Amino acid sequence: MNKTVLVFGANGNVGSHVVNQALAAGYKIKAFVRSPHKFKHSEHPNVEVFKGDATNFDDVEKAIKGVDIVVSCLGNPPKKKIHIMDKAYENIILAASEEPNPPRCLMISTIGTNGSSWFVRFLLQLFNGKDGFADYEKADKRVLDEKNVPFVVIRPAGLTNKQGKGSYRIINKQTVFFPKFMARADVAQFFVDCLSDTSFDGRVVMIEGA
Ligand SMILES: NC(=O)c1ccc[n+]([C@@H]2O[C@H](COP(=O)([O-])OP(=O)(O)OC[C@H]3O[C@@H](n4cnc5c(N)ncnc54)[C@H](OP(=O)(O)O)[C@@H]3O)[C@@H](O)[C@H]2O)c1
Repeated sequence: MNKTVLVFGANGNVGSHVVNQALAAGYKIKAFVRSPHKFKHSEHPNVEVFKGDATNFDDVEKAIKGVDIVVSCLGNPPKKKIHIMDKAYENIILAASEEPNPPRCLMISTIGTNGSSWFVRFLLQLFNGKDGFADYEKADKRVLDEKNVPFVVIRPAGLTNKQGKGSYRIINKQTVFFPKFMARADVAQFFVDCLSDTSFDGRVVMIEGA
């Protein structure tokens, strides 16, 4: 049986790459989106579209029921003072923990959070504001503190929309000064690799361009 992957942020930049690559790899996709009309794969036989808001627990709880794996490519809306990450991650982890077999949760974060790079932290606070960054740090820590749900916290380097190289580099040091930029398509590649590779479960992984 093909596993069903619930993708939060399926209309987003990284999320849409995850959907493309996971479908190509044979997974079934449940796309959690706010705007179904913007979703490009609605007609695909292995796709189910779920309209919802990740800050609404009832939506998240309904969407998670019965799925095998959760991928979050959520992000705070750019240039708006709206912070959804911590609330959304609280909802996802709680809903996953309520399942008889909690799904694995592969959750995007960013390098710079929780001591991973003082320099990237400085830049993100400068450009995105301290409150927005604090929201990411809380969301990241919330998942890392989780005991009942299998998770991977994925902290990518700065992202570009360049064509992917089909590869990425895992940063093995606990902290990094300034990691190499990477294509969003290659972040998606890491997510899709993690769908079948459980070796990072229970950990935070920092990735950068190869
Ligand atoms: N930019 C960088 O260099 C960098 C580096 C490391 C990590 N990251 C992080 O990587 C993540 C993904 O980046 P990206 O470029 O793919 O971001 P993106 O294109 O802005 O995608 C974010 C997605 O989150 C969705 N979303 C926002 N609020 C929602 C809500 N309340 N309910 C449901 N969905 C909601 C958006 O939905 P709509 O499509 O409906 O708007 C969008 O699909 C972000 O968290 C980003 O901060 C970025």
